[in-house]
Amino acid sequence: MRPDAEATGPLDAREAAQVKQCCARLYESEIVTRLLGDSFHPGGAALTERLGRVLALTPNSRVLDAASGKGTSAILLAQRFGCSVVGVDLSHHNVAHARSEADRLGLTGRVTFKVGDAERLPFDDASADAIICECAFCTFPDKRAAADEFARVLRPGGRVGLSDLTRAPGPAGEFADLMAWVACLADACPADSYSARLGDAGFIDVSVENHDSVLLEMIRKIGSRLFAVDVLRGLNKIELDGIDFDAAKRMTRQALVAVEEHRLGYAVVWASKPELSAARANTP
Ligand SMILES: C[S@@+](CC[C@H](N)C(=O)[O-])C[C@H]1O[C@@H](n2cnc3c(N)ncnc32)[C@H](O)[C@@H]1O
Repeated sequence: MRPDAEATGPLDAREAAQVKQCCARLYESEIVTRLLGDSFHPGGAALTERLGRVLALTPNSRVLDAASGKGTSAILLAQRFGCSVVGVDLSHHNVAHARSEADRLGLTGRVTFKVGDAERLPFDDASADAIICECAFCTFPDKRAAADEFARVLRPGGRVGLSDLTRAPGPAGEFADLMAWVACLADACPADSYSARLGDAGFIDVSVENHDSVLLEMIRKIGSRLFAVDVLRGLNKIELDGIDFDAAKRMTRQALVAVEEHRLGYAVVWASKPELSAARANTP
């Protein structure tokens, strides 16, 4: 099981690499696509559009989607706001899928994808007007490095928007089963910690919006899809080896209760990189 960073301290480089690879593999798996579809975050298109609005995207915006998964949000933002988007994700498999979707939809050149690590972004300083990161910041072992990278790659005055899983302060013990299955979620934090990370990286005007209801919706959807997939398996209509469906259903119920009791949640957090003049004024 991935150790709980709050309880055990930072991971060493080997453990951190394992967590990232485990997360990338999980989101390439057939079971995740069957349970979540191609958009891997609670709130789906509506919450991505909300992010696009709080980031004030326009057709001139150069947007970076950090941990872009199958490219669903990058494509949606380009279609809704007319902006150009580059997505970066650790998973070669997801990047290949995202590229072929962008090509299929005639967005070649305006929506592009790269394999890369959000903690070491393969982009120049000040090359993006806006950055989104959906349901992924919580999985990064080195959140400080990722927040610093967002600040480096954004131009002065640019905005970053995260949408992410939140967890009440305290040890992750009660979620041990859930975290063992979705190991990279063990490091989800209270929304205030995400804000603090952005603040530490120099961002200002940090805002937080609660979206627990979309997490409830997603968990309910996963519950009913798990049930359907299990029935199909029983009828020999699909093969999915290595999944303990009883444990998965138990975890789903456990997660539902945790959201209802505000121990798990979902939030949108956004902030601005200071304009150059403001940054100079704050320099002693
Ligand atoms: C929960 S999915 C979210 C995907 C996408 N943002 C969405 O909402 O559909 C998490 C994604 O983060 C990617 N990922 C995990 N760690 C990463 C890292 N350090 N750098 C880039 N991508 C990462 C995984 O490969 C996976 O595609």
